[in-house]
Amino acid sequence: MTSPITDLEVSAALDRSCGRIRRNLKDFTFQCQNHSSIHNIYPPCENTQWTCGFWPGEVWLAYEHTKDDSFRQAGSILVQSFLKRITSKTEVDHHDMGFLYTPSCVSAWMLTGNADARTAAILAADQLLTRFQETGSFLQAWGPLGAPDNYRYIIDCLMNLPLLYWASEETKDEKYRNVARRHTETCLRYSFREDGSTFHTYFLDPATGKGVRGVTCQGYRDDSFWARGQAWAICGLAVSYRYTRDERCIDYFRKALAFYLDRLPEDGIPYWDLIFSDGSGEPRDSSSAAIVACGLLEMVPHLEQEERERCIRLARCMAGSLTKNYVAGEGSNGLLLHGTYSKKSPFNTCTPEGVDECVSWGDYFYMEALTRLAGPWKSYW
Ligand code: GLY
Repeated sequence: MTSPITDLEVSAALDRSCGRIRRNLKDFTFQCQNHSSIHNIYPPCENTQWTCGFWPGEVWLAYEHTKDDSFRQAGSILVQSFLKRITSKTEVDHHDMGFLYTPSCVSAWMLTGNADARTAAILAADQLLTRFQETGSFLQAWGPLGAPDNYRYIIDCLMNLPLLYWASEETKDEKYRNVARRHTETCLRYSFREDGSTFHTYFLDPATGKGVRGVTCQGYRDDSFWARGQAWAICGLAVSYRYTRDERCIDYFRKALAFYLDRLPEDGIPYWDLIFSDGSGEPRDSSSAAIVACGLLEMVPHLEQEERERCIRLARCMAGSLTKNYVAGEGSNGLLLHGTYSKKSPFNTCTPEGVDECVSWGDYFYMEALTRLAGPWKSYW
């Protein structure tokens, strides 16, 4: 793998990223950033996508790094857009409330005490609770509630749960935490294969609540290993461990990580599905490596020295590889090149979008990984 990034390189990468984010403020303060770029340029979009929280998250990370008030002002304007979205219930009938409201609003509340941000994030947690299915004990990802063809959750949801844990801590109401715990039980029961790889989506029986089958949407095929799903699992388990201290989260984290590492190409940045390797001609998903780097650093405080040092080194190698070979040039308004949102295969059901492009969560988690490497960081998740 590429050599570990040094502290000096982390600092330079953060400065460069903040410069790019600052340059983008004029385009993305009163409108959002599209989920992915087109020829490495993000167009603007309305605040309607599941991904709109990541750009504000970058703005808040840039504020933390620079203390520059222009970031605080832009982040606060974006909070109002997120408050409006949840109060008007615009495109919130899905489970991605955590991806939307943790980086955009939990951050703003933590960093600036913005009361509207807190209100918006708690309303979003309430909205997420509406997706909980008692029969089967899980948060339904997409589609009309209870619809048999959508009676499933997806591995990504592990990263929506921190919003629920946060809401319980804020309100002292256990209902959010209880749902997060119950969803996690179901996820641990069904989503992980024996070898540590993960199913992207998992269907349950609406009548009995029993697990039925794992199916991919964005991976290559049902029995392959969608690289970002594996990353959501690794990072989600690390964050879940912080909130639950459930030892199974560390066990599953280790297995999922070992599987991931075994399937990485030489430079440590996976192809979009871990079934592919060097020579496949397939595109990468740089965002997957950025997410895993954050998961590794999240788990570090809970590990003994040898494993801790290994995780730090791995995270530094991934961040080093991203910084050396995947950072976008001046012609782009993104941070990281070579992300893949959804690549169509003969066997999957996704709509093709954002293949070999910048993707907004890739940029966010790259910034978060650099921030974590730069020193102690109080997580938004
Ligand atoms: N959570 C959807 C994705 O990672 O594309």
